[in-house]
Amino acid sequence: MLLLPFQLLTILLPGADSEDGFQGPSSYHVIQISSFVNSTWAKNEGSGWLDDLQIHGWDSDSGTAIFLKPWSKGNLSDEEVTEVEELFRVYLFGFIQEIQARINEFQLEYPFEIQGIAGCKLLPGGSVTSFLSGGVGGLDFLSFDNNTCVPSPEGGSRAQQACTLIMEYQGIIDTGTKLLYETCPRYLLSVLNAGKAELQRQAKPKAWLSSGPSPGPGRLLLVCHVSGFYPKPVWVMWMRGEQEQPGTQHSDLLPSADWTWYLRATLDVASGEAAGLSCQVKHSSLEGRDIVLHWGPPISIALICLAILVPSIILLLCVALWHIKRRSYQDIP
Ligand SMILES: *[C@@H]1O[C@H](CO)[C@@H](O)[C@H](O)[C@H]1NC(C)=O
Ligand SMILES: *[C@@H]1O[C@H](CO)[C@@H](O)[C@H](O)[C@H]1NC(C)=O
Ligand SMILES: *[C@@H]1O[C@H](CO)[C@@H](O)[C@H](O)[C@H]1NC(C)=O
Repeated sequence: MLLLPFQLLTILLPGADSEDGFQGPSSYHVIQISSFVNSTWAKNEGSGWLDDLQIHGWDSDSGTAIFLKPWSKGNLSDEEVTEVEELFRVYLFGFIQEIQARINEFQLEYPFEIQGIAGCKLLPGGSVTSFLSGGVGGLDFLSFDNNTCVPSPEGGSRAQQACTLIMEYQGIIDTGTKLLYETCPRYLLSVLNAGKAELQRQAKPKAWLSSGPSPGPGRLLLVCHVSGFYPKPVWVMWMRGEQEQPGTQHSDLLPSADWTWYLRATLDVASGEAAGLSCQVKHSSLEGRDIVLHWGPPISIALICLAILVPSIILLLCVALWHIKRRSYQDIP
């Protein structure tokens, strides 16, 4: 559930382009993954994200943030950055200690993993909303709403117990509230602005076709690969003329290290029906000039070969004939 934002397949439908023309991320969140292996061994992983683009890492050994982009600090002053790092360092260290001390109380069994996500999001009207939630072993456990811990139904009595406990730590609630409702919105606006050139850039998709493993006798799997595009929203469809092929299947959108995306659209067809199909790609960077790739049946490759081979053979025959003729003339005394 916590990883859901990364798996959302944002398929841009024709005409569903964002109204204000703003492209690129609109939220910031930190992710905490705490792995508890046994009674003496646990580790924290931390990271910071603008939607699904990572801009912060966390060095657990030194307890310091890693700024993955020159503009990752937004307009936070060095003092503020140091202060936030200190808060995270103390929190993450204390978190492991608290959990390890309450293994029995919460009936937890090694190994297990706790995930947390917290951040804020810019809404279309310009206001900012904040969120915080936690999960255990991949299931929702609790969330915060209006400064109040809300246990998730999946969390059962353990989650209720945890919320009761958390609400007793008023100092932590106050610090968390300040970070979520004051620091985060201010930081989000400034970092979106600082990274604007990169966040709002347009990278054109490249597309190519291939055939996948045959889905069965007499059938073909047509594959349309689209890569290297940014931002994420894209529309890829197998078409026959103007007709969208409803059997088109989309892969997950896969991220690349260079902040571009990859998507595959496949279509399972009878071999005889592949001719005349095309893959169409719509993306904001193309400014309406869609990419259209026509499926070239294998026979066309054979035709190309024939087209090269036939004249060559004729030429060879001519040369051979000419030689034979010359020889026969020369043979005449
Ligand atoms: C805990 O796990 C670590 C890493 O797998 C291992 O090296 C260590 O021996 C384990 N300790 C105990 C007490 O099981
Ligand atoms: C949020 O909590 C405060 C006090 O805890 C309360 O007065 C307010 O009505 C709550 N707002 C919402 C939207 O629940
Ligand atoms: C940082 O940016 C935010 C949002 O744009 C703004 O409200 C704030 O005043 C800026 N802070 C400084 C110190 O410039």
